[in-house]
Amino acid sequence: MTQQQIDQQTGDEGTDRTGAAAVPQTAPETSRKSGQETGQPLLKVTDLQRYFPFREVQGLKMVRATVKAVDGISFTVRQGQTLGLVGESGCGKSTTSRLITRLDTPTAGTIEFQGRDITHLKESELREIRRDVQMIFQDPYSSLNPRHTVGTILSTPLKVHGLHQGKEKARVQELLELVGLNPEHINRYPSEFSGGQRQRIGIARALAVEPKLIIADEPVSALDVSIQAQVMNLLAKLRDELDLAFIFVAHDLGVVRHFCDQVAVMYLGKIVEYGDKKKIYEAPEHPYTQALLSAAPDINVARGIAPKERIRLVGDVPSPIDPPSGCRFRTRCWKAQDICAQQEPPLLSAQADESLRGKREGGLHLQACHFPEVKTDLVAEVESA
Ligand SMILES: Nc1ncnc2c1ncn2[C@@H]1O[C@H](COP(=O)(O)OP(=O)(O)OP(=O)(O)O)[C@@H](O)[C@H]1O
Ligand code: SF4
Ligand SMILES: [Mg+2]
Repeated sequence: MTQQQIDQQTGDEGTDRTGAAAVPQTAPETSRKSGQETGQPLLKVTDLQRYFPFREVQGLKMVRATVKAVDGISFTVRQGQTLGLVGESGCGKSTTSRLITRLDTPTAGTIEFQGRDITHLKESELREIRRDVQMIFQDPYSSLNPRHTVGTILSTPLKVHGLHQGKEKARVQELLELVGLNPEHINRYPSEFSGGQRQRIGIARALAVEPKLIIADEPVSALDVSIQAQVMNLLAKLRDELDLAFIFVAHDLGVVRHFCDQVAVMYLGKIVEYGDKKKIYEAPEHPYTQALLSAAPDINVARGIAPKERIRLVGDVPSPIDPPSGCRFRTRCWKAQDICAQQEPPLLSAQADESLRGKREGGLHLQACHFPEVKTDLVAEVESA
């Protein structure tokens, strides 16, 4: 499959944000080697699969069925790099996040963190991974314990990992300051903060243990639009200052546009297009990516051209219990032909296609389509009505 291609194409070109951290942070222990030190990608996911078996009643019979939530996806994240994981509801983004953080275990495939295979580590062996890989959750209301003060919420991970012993309070106050909250509010409860402030507490909690990779699962989608930009700016600032790697999960491409170095577009448990941000936004090759982009309101402005066509996706996403044969997008694709129902298109570079070779620049860009478009006149519909 494509992991080799991904390795070849990503090479050591990961975004370099090695500027000195402007934010006070305890120096990592020497045993916690970074991806740059080891030459390894920080995270390498290969053919990851998560099937959920279940039973359902059909007529008078109980039958077994399987939800194919994640079905063979591969990608790589390097230190300081940000990958956007984008797709419609139910395509497997959160399941992927839970697998990487090992809150769940894959059905098949491998997850390597700093060169170490963590796919089947037991709970007792996951201590270091729990520190290195942190999550920021979608809902800032339910992800914080309402009975604990902010001080308790932020000092608990420090105690669990034996960090800043005897100086936990100072570290908690430092964390509050880091995320733009008043350090004097250490004894307040989550209910005494707004949604945006609560999400800042969630971010502080993720940062408390000095992680290397943060998985942010739709961290701003539950917030008011006016607050979303503030939280996004905070995340970008922290990412750059602390040289963090990010996986940023989002429903639409607009949200991750300014935040990510690379983007993986998911559809029904598969990655259908994966590449450098510039490739995905300026020359999308997969019809699904084109449709998602055409719904992004700012694309016309960004490309400086007048709108020509809006692609409207018809119908719902099919069930992951019984996905379409061949290409899973074919039931909604305006370009589908017979082969699309018969053969599943592999995730490949269009450069591999002789007819397309030389028509675009290098860099990571893979898509899974029998009829990729190297150049498209796609533009978004301007919200003029
Ligand atoms: N524990 C589970 N048991 C059975 N099915 C599950 C389970 N967890 C997730 N699924 C199914 O797997 C599919 C992918 O779910 P997932 O939550 O990963 O999607 P998502 O892309 O995060 O969606 P959203 O954007 O709505 O958060 C869905 O069809 C979901 O119903
Ligand atoms: S493989 Fe066929 S159905 Fe799938 S996206 Fe490409 S053209 Fe459409
Ligand atoms: Mg989700």
